[in-house]
Order: sequence, then C-alpha cells, then structure tokens
Amino acid sequence: MSDVTTLLNDYSKEIKGAIDENLSTIIPNNLQEASIYLTKAGGKMLRPTLTLIVSEAVGSNKKDSLNSAAAIELIHTFSLIHDDIMDDDDVRRGVPAVHKVWGDDVAILSGDTLFSKAFELIINSKKPPAQNNKALATVADACVQICEGQALDISFEGRYDVKEEEYLEMIFKKTGALIAAATKVGSIMGGADDEVNSIMYEYGKLIGLAFQIQDDYLDVIGDEESIGKPAGSDIAKGKMTLLAIKALEEASPEDSEKLLKILKDEASSKDDIDTAINLFEKYGSIQYARDVALGNVKDAKELLKILPDSEAKQTLFSIADFVLERHS
Ligand code: IPE
Ligand code: IPE
Ligand code: MG
Ligand code: MG
Ligand code: MG
Repeated sequence: MSDVTTLLNDYSKEIKGAIDENLSTIIPNNLQEASIYLTKAGGKMLRPTLTLIVSEAVGSNKKDSLNSAAAIELIHTFSLIHDDIMDDDDVRRGVPAVHKVWGDDVAILSGDTLFSKAFELIINSKKPPAQNNKALATVADACVQICEGQALDISFEGRYDVKEEEYLEMIFKKTGALIAAATKVGSIMGGADDEVNSIMYEYGKLIGLAFQIQDDYLDVIGDEESIGKPAGSDIAKGKMTLLAIKALEEASPEDSEKLLKILKDEASSKDDIDTAINLFEKYGSIQYARDVALGNVKDAKELLKILPDSEAKQTLFSIADFVLERHS
C-alpha cells in the first residue's frame, strides 16, 4: 500500500465516526440505512482527508475541520447517489447502487438528506461566524457547480463535437469544484487568511481536474474489481471524455467514423469497446490525457510553496501525485 493509501485509511476512521454520529438520528429506518450505506461500503475519503490535512498544513489541527470534512464527504456521497440514478449505473463502491437496493424514491431522498445534513454539520462546528459563513458559502457554491457540471455532462450526451475547453469546464464543475471546496474549507477552518484560502482552492481545483481525467482513464484501462464499477462503461454509453474528444479530433475520417459508430451504439460489445480503446491508443489520446493531468498536478504542487514546511505540506505533495497513481 502506498503511504497515501495508509493515510487515507487512518483519517477515514475519524471521518466515518463523525458521519455515523450525524446520520444516526434520521428516521424512518430505511432512509437512515440508505443514507449511511455507501459510507459503510467504503470509499477512499480523499476529499475529507484533504480538508483535514490542509487544516494541519496551515498550522492548525484536524479537530478544527473534522465536522466540515465530514460535511464534504456527505456532499460527495449525495452526488454519487444521484449520479448513479442519472447514469443508470447499478454498482457503486463494489456494492449495488443505492437506487438498486431501495429504489429511486428513497435514493433521491437519501441524497437530499445527506445534502442537508452536510450544512447542519458545518453550522454545528461552532466556529466564529466569519469562518463558519465562509465555509458554508464555499460548500454551497460547490453544490451549485456540481449540479451545473452534471447538467453539462448530460447535455453532452448525443453530441460528438464537444471541444476540449467545454469538457474541462464540465469536469471542473462536476468534480473539481468539490475537491477545491474541500481544500479551501480546510484552510478556512484552519484559520488561514484569504490569500492562502484562495491558493488552497486552486490547488484543489487542479488536482480535481487531474482526478476526473484519471477517472476517465481508469474507466478505459481499469478492471471492474478495482474500480468498483463496470470497465469501459463510458465508451459503451458514448460519453465524451478527453480520450474520446482527442481521438475524434486526431483520427482519419475512416477511423473517426468507426469510433463514432461505437460511441453512438447503445449496445456496444466487448469487441467494440476494445476497438475504441485501440483507436484511443493509435491516436495518442490516452497519452495526451495523461499529459494534461500531469500538467495539472505539476501546477498544483507549485502552489504549495506558499505554505510553511511541515509534514502536512509534504502529504499534500504526495496526494497530488497519488491522484494519478491511484487504480481505484
Ligand atoms: C468518484 O469519486 C466520482 C468522481 C467524481 C470521479 P471517488 O473516486 O473519489 O469515489 P470514492 O469516494 O472513492 O468511492
Ligand atoms: C461523477 O462523474 C461526478 C459526480 C458524482 C458529481 P462520473 O459519472 O464520471 O462518476 P463515476 O464514473 O460514476 O464514478
Ligand atoms: Mg457516474
Ligand atoms: Mg455521471
Ligand atoms: Mg466516470
């Protein structure tokens, strides 16, 4: 296990404890179970761990941001539950998706409950109003961005002329914004000034972009067991990932036609998916996406120079690298 994996495991325990406590009052029972289910199933806890580490890196300690870290994870979990309904995905974190177990109605409600509980957690962190309000505003802003990003993602369905800039805007909103909020909230609750808060936001945004590019990449090269969901599903669904966008841009008319046919086909076979992956490779789109993500990680690490040297700062360097090393 990498150092970062060990660290995520360690920090997860406290975060899960805070989440369990916060969700224990939900009634009726099935709503409580549906709301806690994905947290019990696992999850890397990358976002809340970032919140805690950033608090440490700005000279405070993780207790200062534990409630907010738990809140960030609840927002993430809410977005996953609703995402699986929208994407019609049956498996999440290696277990049946919430909507598969409890049905769409309870799944929607459990997402809404987690969303609301997240704000309650921040309010209950009993920080001075200036800090609390900034944290609330940051999380509220991220929630709007997630919805905008998901709406953009959906609006790209059936469009095969999506440009790289449009894709980057979409992934910033659906994924980058919450990771940016996670790091900014850690900074706010750790008592840093506005300049540091903004720089921590940028750090989170850049590793968040790299994180989503890696998610798209793993969908192509990963296996179901490690990614906890079927591999190749983005191709099967005709999703416009950076890999697909670049390959369509670079391919010969003939190959472009072939790839489009697979992306448009609602019942792509395993062979079709392999053909699409071969085309991604042929036109260098896998390497291209990797290079874009590596550039983001490099820029993110550059921003860390504003922080005083500490173990937590070193961890933020390692997490930036981990985003592209992860296999799940
Ligand atoms: C999955 O996020 C959804 C994306 C934004 C790509 P994670 O890969 O962080 O999922 P968990 O929390 O570890 O399950
Ligand atoms: C998920 O994006 C983004 C959010 C949940 C906001 P994806 O739809 O690509 O995530 P996975 O692949 O289902 O985890
Ligand atoms: Mg999805
Ligand atoms: Mg989705
Ligand atoms: Mg994905």
